[in-house]
Amino acid sequence: MRDECAAIRDEFDADLQSAVSENDLYQIKSKYLGRSSRLTSLIKSLKDLPAEERALTGSTANALKSSLQREIETALEAMRLTRKEQAIAARALDITLPGRRPALGTLHPVTRVTEKITAIFTGLGFSVVDGPEIELDFFNFEALNIPKDHPARDMHDTFYVSGEQLLRTHTSPVQIRTMQRMQPPLRILCPGKVYRCDSDISHTPMFHQIEGLMVDTHVSFSDLKGLLTILIHRLFGQETAIRFRPSYFPFTEPSAEVDIQCVMCRGNGCRVCSGTGWLEILGCGLVNPVVFKNAGYDPEEVTGLAFGLGVERIAMLTYGINDIRLFYENDLRFLSQF
Ligand code: DAH
Repeated sequence: MRDECAAIRDEFDADLQSAVSENDLYQIKSKYLGRSSRLTSLIKSLKDLPAEERALTGSTANALKSSLQREIETALEAMRLTRKEQAIAARALDITLPGRRPALGTLHPVTRVTEKITAIFTGLGFSVVDGPEIELDFFNFEALNIPKDHPARDMHDTFYVSGEQLLRTHTSPVQIRTMQRMQPPLRILCPGKVYRCDSDISHTPMFHQIEGLMVDTHVSFSDLKGLLTILIHRLFGQETAIRFRPSYFPFTEPSAEVDIQCVMCRGNGCRVCSGTGWLEILGCGLVNPVVFKNAGYDPEEVTGLAFGLGVERIAMLTYGINDIRLFYENDLRFLSQF
């Protein structure tokens, strides 16, 4: 019987050696300790042995049984630990690696230029106001001294929503809306989207303008020149030469267009300025008395200045962008440069 115990032990050792999984160990457990195992039947048959032999064999068999139990538990524990370690290693986290930076967005160049210009004028006492993009013919044209049969309407290729409603072609209608609800003196700035039926390398059907209006008792052309000179010097640098060129807008009298020395060639003449050395950047003038009347102000009491500029144009000159369509293609390679 004790030889039988030794045989079981040898076989068990060999099996345990070759076990590679927890499942193998459970099978070994049932093979050597299960109800129908050799060891269990051996222990059951002890009672049939003579008394002196029973004691000795009994203790050997029981010692073997608890030894096998212990060894299996130890092997199982070791295998569970390895499995855990392997799982941890499989999703290894290397805390010495540099962290991944979250991709940060940037402000759109049109937003940047709008914010810069807004900051300059709010610093000069102007407030920012808003107006609707779907506008009435009255505010977009009529009240701005552009009557239905006026040739100036040809300057705007308009998207009409209905007979009287249209997508505003400029931010100037906000002048009228503001004067109708506020009394002078006032200084306002209106940045916003405008729409024209136009599309090529320098025109998109939607673009951005900033309208400025200042009304008081003694606003003069010198104020206009002073304000716009500050604006241009802050945008393009103190050394930038500026010229006011007589022009015509129905809502201002006198009217002017402002040119700056070409920022690309510094006035020597290049492709961007068509060889002239100058770039046109905005329209301006003193508010036409007719516009004051249309808005409910007394032209004998107040004078005013107004100006309007295209944001994309300023952004193109600031950043050296040659195609306006780049602003609206949402190409991150372009946008992330700003
Ligand atoms: N509204 C004009 C345009 O869209 C720009 C403009 C010119 C606005 C002269 C003004 C101004 O306020 O005084 O082209």
